[in-house]
Amino acid sequence: MLKKLLAVSISIICMASPALVNAEGDAQAGKQLASSCAGCHGETGNSIVPSFPKLAGQHTSYLNKQLLAFKNGTRQAPMMAPLAMGLNDKNRADLAKFYASQTISANPMPTLKAEDHNSSDEAGSHSDNKNKEAELKALLSFGGDLYRNGDLEREVSACVACHGPFGEGNKPAGFPMLKGQHADYLIQTLTDFKTNTRTKVADNMMHMIATKMTEKEIRAVSYYISVMK
Ligand code: HEC
Ligand code: HEC
Repeated sequence: MLKKLLAVSISIICMASPALVNAEGDAQAGKQLASSCAGCHGETGNSIVPSFPKLAGQHTSYLNKQLLAFKNGTRQAPMMAPLAMGLNDKNRADLAKFYASQTISANPMPTLKAEDHNSSDEAGSHSDNKNKEAELKALLSFGGDLYRNGDLEREVSACVACHGPFGEGNKPAGFPMLKGQHADYLIQTLTDFKTNTRTKVADNMMHMIATKMTEKEIRAVSYYISVMK
């Protein structure tokens, strides 16, 4: 009798485990699939090219959702769409598990670009190093303030409410981790939300928020997020 019970429970475990692996994703299988992504996103999901997003440490829920969105076209990205077409449910879960298990790399301090300088500064050609440092500091503090408090007057929600005090996001809710992401990618994707080119879903939360942000706010908050730890 005991033997019979044991045999039954073992076979239940055997039947249940593949399903569990499916839902949870298998990091080892994901690592193999990720070799075709490494050219752009880096071997551990830490891309070198600042316009290609880092994926390391990102939540599985968010990664899964984006890969599906590339496939069904709700997120528009010409580079990702053809790659996402070939991924099934299990591939997406495995890839998500692999990237989530990696650690995101830290960024160096941002360097200001021509568009970050005050107009009075004539593209910064006259500013010496000390001025540049002060300018960067001011921009980071402006970005940090927007991140924590939002902009009440223009109804920009505080980022901290959904993306957390450390930029860690919210896994159960599927809100992405932001800290350590490349500033160039952040600026691009926030601009895409603003102009409705990232997604055509009109009630996408980020579209509604980014629409109200100025170009300066987008750049400042992106620099701030890129060096959050
Ligand atoms: C040719 C370069 C390239 C390759 C190869 C590539 N990606 Fe991407 N990936 C991109 C770019 C560029 C974006 C940003 C797309 C956008 O927002 O327009 C992106 C975005 C993503 C995102 C969304 C990240 C975020 O923070 O929202 C995920 C997830 C992703 N890629 C996963 C993958 C996976 C998995 C593979 C391999 C199967 C892969 N990528 C291969 C270039 C690439
Ligand atoms: C009400 C919740 C909420 C608030 C507030 C919020 N976000 Fe988001 N954010 C989201 C969600 C949800 C997504 C994922 C959107 C999607 O799947 O298309 C997201 C995505 C993003 C992304 C894309 C990440 C990536 O890897 O591509 C960036 C960047 C971002 N948010 C920045 C901000 C900034 C900056 C603020 C503050 C000005 C902010 N968010 C405020 C919910 C929020």
